[in-house]
Amino acid sequence: MPAIVLVGMQWGDEGKGKIVDVLCDEASLVVRYQGGANAGHTVVIGDEEYVLHLVPCGILRPGKTCYIGNGVVIDPEALFSEMSSLENRGIGVRGRLFVSLSSHVIMPYHKLSEKVLEKLLGERRIGTAGRGIGPAYRDKAGRVGVRVCDLFDHRVLRDKIAVLAEEARALAEQLVEHEELNAVTVSRPQIVYARAESEDESCVEEPSEVFKRYVALGEKIRPMAVNVSRELNLALDERKTVLFEGAQGTLLDLDHGSYPYVSSSSASAGGACTGTGVGPTRIDEVVGVAKAYTTRVGNGPFPTELSSEASQTLREAGAEYGATTGRPRRCGWFDAVVARYSARINGVSKLYLTKLDVLDGHRELKICTGYAYEGNALGDFPASLEAMFRVEPTYETLPGWRQSVKGARRKEELPPEALGYVRRIEELTGVRLAGVSVGSAREEMVFFD
Ligand code: IMP
Ligand code: MG
Repeated sequence: MPAIVLVGMQWGDEGKGKIVDVLCDEASLVVRYQGGANAGHTVVIGDEEYVLHLVPCGILRPGKTCYIGNGVVIDPEALFSEMSSLENRGIGVRGRLFVSLSSHVIMPYHKLSEKVLEKLLGERRIGTAGRGIGPAYRDKAGRVGVRVCDLFDHRVLRDKIAVLAEEARALAEQLVEHEELNAVTVSRPQIVYARAESEDESCVEEPSEVFKRYVALGEKIRPMAVNVSRELNLALDERKTVLFEGAQGTLLDLDHGSYPYVSSSSASAGGACTGTGVGPTRIDEVVGVAKAYTTRVGNGPFPTELSSEASQTLREAGAEYGATTGRPRRCGWFDAVVARYSARINGVSKLYLTKLDVLDGHRELKICTGYAYEGNALGDFPASLEAMFRVEPTYETLPGWRQSVKGARRKEELPPEALGYVRRIEELTGVRLAGVSVGSAREEMVFFD
């Protein structure tokens, strides 16, 4: 299959990194199409564990060429630090990783702006990863963003930074009111930001200094900056296989997720086209990845969330801590309403279930098959935030299994209850089950095809 999109069907952390790694065998090119360094994709190869944020997981496979598409927002410092940590571990990156000339760039004040917004939201804060993602996409939609190609055009870059500096000054005035900074910092137009390496320390940088720093970063990016749309389409013309690697998940999609508790990009399959410049008619397959239970990191509605004690049991069994922020993930039962909704939004053609081994040893397991809201059954995931918070899940109880599924490699080797559990999920989701992951290692897979 030449063009395969891989998407998360829940709130992120479905184990997409592992499935990308498994599917990589077939692919020559791997491309990220949305999000930024907010992602945390964990891949285990032998005794080594890698956590990738911005670079596609395909980089871990020798010979694969990786791209960061126009739909991604790039923090150049985060990019270079990830590239050097990969190189320090013996993964060659240079000459195999390219970025789009049209990708937007995360600027110094985006992270601070996010901090201020979260503070202003108070109890309604999103619980973001703090990587400047939302403000960068806001500038993109506001048509004032800096793109990779602007880093090479000094006049454009200088003008853009001047406008943004003025805006940042206004923001700084607000900050003074909120006692984040002292009044001295707003006496002249300045860019105010928190440096990546010391997030709590607010720093002030003149527009001319920001300009110089970004020109230098631009020179480092220049050899990697290409027309990604052209390269991917040429590869597809040559019948090469391209894997589109989604980050976050469908319920964190800006349009289709649990808005406003979402990320700011198109995490669903449609984003693969807008985020790379490959047309919808060229996509052959959409692979959906869902965890055998549900987790969410950050705030917002989560209908099947377990009580804190039961959540803790799953969290420990599944090592459910954010790969980017280290925050404990909220845990709950598998939600088939969410899975069915995601299957439709993305047009999922194949399903992979992950982390089935984490459910070993439960006497019984629950699957949410529907929601009730104000006494009525809901046919779908609701649009209203109020409803998302207040729906009552309807559960079906299934028998658990005692023995570990970790050693299973064929479906006949799964305990009958485990097979029954995944087959029921397949039925409720309405998508063919292609495989189940039973551990973090590459070979810990049971294929159903
Ligand atoms: P942002 O993407 O940093 O703006 O955060 C918005 C929401 O998405 C927060 O709830 C984050 O915890 C969540 N989020 C962002 N990236 C990921 C991810 O890769 N996995 C899981 N949750 C994420
Ligand atoms: Mg993750």
